[in-house]
This record gives sequence, structure tokens and C-alpha cells, in this order.
Amino acid sequence: MKVISVVGARPQLVKLAPIAAAFAKSDHRHVIVHTGQHYDADLSDVFFSGLGIPDPDVHLGIGSGSHGAQTGKALAALDPVLAAEEPDWVLVYGDTNSTLAGALSAVKQHLPVAHLEAGLRSFNRRMPEEHNRVLTDHAADLLLAPTEEAMRHLADEGLAARAVLAGDVMVDVCLAVRDAVRAGEHPRPVLPDGVDTGAPYLLATVHRAENTDDPQRLAGLIDALADLPVPVALLAHPRLVARAEEHGVKLARGAVHVGRPLPYGAMVAAVLGSTGVVTDSGGLQKEAYLLARPCTTLRPETEWTETLADGWNHLVPEPGDLGRAAWIDTATRPAPAAPRGTPYGDGRAAERVVKILEER
Ligand code: UD1
Repeated sequence: MKVISVVGARPQLVKLAPIAAAFAKSDHRHVIVHTGQHYDADLSDVFFSGLGIPDPDVHLGIGSGSHGAQTGKALAALDPVLAAEEPDWVLVYGDTNSTLAGALSAVKQHLPVAHLEAGLRSFNRRMPEEHNRVLTDHAADLLLAPTEEAMRHLADEGLAARAVLAGDVMVDVCLAVRDAVRAGEHPRPVLPDGVDTGAPYLLATVHRAENTDDPQRLAGLIDALADLPVPVALLAHPRLVARAEEHGVKLARGAVHVGRPLPYGAMVAAVLGSTGVVTDSGGLQKEAYLLARPCTTLRPETEWTETLADGWNHLVPEPGDLGRAAWIDTATRPAPAAPRGTPYGDGRAAERVVKILEER
């Protein structure tokens, strides 16, 4: 069997790592195509080197642009590559513009396409990721769902016959890296100046278009972080840095100490070293849950609803609406005493994905 993985953005590289490792243990041919949506070393190269992913076989170098331009460039560049490779499966990951481009290129060339992390929904039609995941699910031949909840969403949309519960490959990689961090196999993370890894700190990221692109909203979120009584290590995605500069919003002030995005191992170590996480990232909400740190999510909804159980994750769309004391209490709350379930599977999802592709 020959499978092409189409990836392009940071979260896809994390999911690619366990899949590439599972293929390496098999007799199948696995071809990695990187669209080049993410090109900064911090967002791309360090994930290949840090997670032991083989270099991409093909790099399309499409770069940044408006949603249409970026998706269109990737689509046009993918067509000849997929046509020449004639894979048995095209595997697309998550919900980025690269995901949609991969699914469209494959389906229009009658190449079987499988969507990893199918069935997630925020039901927020303003999110670019929601457009990408809904359109990809409806185009794909095989829907690899991470959770029961995702299976229900697919059934509600008439897609049950194409859906399989595969589990979540992010558990595979997160738990393996956690164990390596604990065994001292990863260097200590470099946190921003002013954040002492031996003392309590919160780890924060903000990068969603809904949070970064409106100047008032961005300023309000940074005000709220700056007001917290513990140091906040804000690992700044290039989109955040670019929009903050454009809108004249100063990031480094009050409790906020700004650093660069971290490689995956350092990120897991930084979560483990923290007392909690404040984020709008989907992946980080789940990593906080898997690593038993309380998470505060700066969004009105989450695709990973299982993390909300027992207060492990709290949704705070507008910290300003909560009132100062309640915001501080929420963001600095201790980890709940309640044990966490295993809604995301057993950490062997990638092997299962390879088996499912093989059987079909
Ligand atoms: C993309 C995904 C988002 C995912 C995120 C993870 C879409 C619609 N969104 O958002 O779901 O959570 O990746 O990071 O696909 N930039 C750089 N260097 C880079 C990449 C981007 O400087 O290597 C800057 C550019 O200013 C660019 C902006 O970040 O315009 C946004 O990049 P883009 O790839 O469009 O989306 P992300 O915000 O990264």
C-alpha cells in the first residue's frame, strides 16, 4: 500500500509523528508532502527534527496568504504530485487550509482520501477551521474519528457509513513525549526571561484569527493576562506578533513575558512545569488535559468538549465580562481533584489508523 500524508501547519506535524512512526514499522510506502503553509523553523523544522519525522518527500513552498489564495495555491501545487504518485490513500489531517486543499485535490482526481481527526465541530461558522473540517469530512471517503462525540457529529450529518472510531493520535505522541521528558531525555524548556521554571507560572498561547485580528479583542485578552498575579509565559505565534504590531498592542507587560513558540518536547515539559494553561489552541487544551494541568480556554466553545468534565477546562470567551476577581480565580485555579477519564483513547491510535487503511 502507498499512502501520501499531506501536511502543512504545526498541529499537523504533531499528528504526523506517530503516523510516520507506525508506517516505518510496516511494509507500506509512506510519502510525506508538506505544503509549506508553515515555513518558520519554529513552526515546522523543529517538529521534524524533534519528533524524529523523516524529511518531507515533496515540499510545495506555498507560504502565507488569504484563505482563498493559500488554499488555491496548495490545491494547484498538489494536483500533479498526487497524480504522479498514484497513492492508494491520501491522508489529510485536522482542519487547516492545507487539509482542505489535500482533500479537494484527491477527491477530484478520484484518489481515495482519509481524514484523520474527522467529526470535530465547534458549530462556529465564523472559524476558518470549521469550514475546513466540515468540507473535508463531506469530501472524504474514510473518516477517522478521534472520539465518540466526533462519531455522533458525523452520524448527525449523514456520514456514519464512512466513519470509524480510530482514537486520537495526539495521545500517542503526547504520552510518549511526557515519558521521555520525565526520563530526562529532553532539555529543559527555555521560557521567556522573567519566568522562573522553579516557581509557579501559567503557560499561555493566543493565535486564533478570532482572537488576534480584532484590535479591541486582542487588547482585552492581553490586558486580562497582564493582570494575573502569577507570571504568564506567552509563547507567541507569528500571527500574534504580526497582528499585535499592526494594532499597536503591546504584548510584554504586567504578568506577561513573551517567548517564541517551543518545539514539542519543550512544550510538553513547559506544560508539566506550569500550574495551568491559558490558550485558544485546540491541541494545547488537550495536552493540558492529558498532562493533568487545568486549562482556561479563551473561546466561547471547544471542539474537545470532553476536557470540560469536572472543571479540567473552563471556557472564558471574554475575561472582561467575568469581573477581575472571578477571572483571576478561574485562570489560577488549582487542578481539580477528580480523576480524568480516557475519552481520547489508549495511545495506540496511529497503529490502528494504519491497520484501518490497510484493511480498506
Ligand atoms: C493555521 C491554521 C490553524 C492552526 C494554526 C497553528 C488555517 C486556517 N489555520 O493558522 O488552524 O491552529 O495554523 O499554528 O489553516 N506566519 C509566519 N510564519 C509561518 C507561518 C505563518 O510568520 O511559518 C504568519 C504570517 O503572518 C501568516 C500568519 O502567520 O500570514 C498566519 O499563518 P497561516 O498559516 O495563514 O495561519 P495560522 O494562523 O498559522
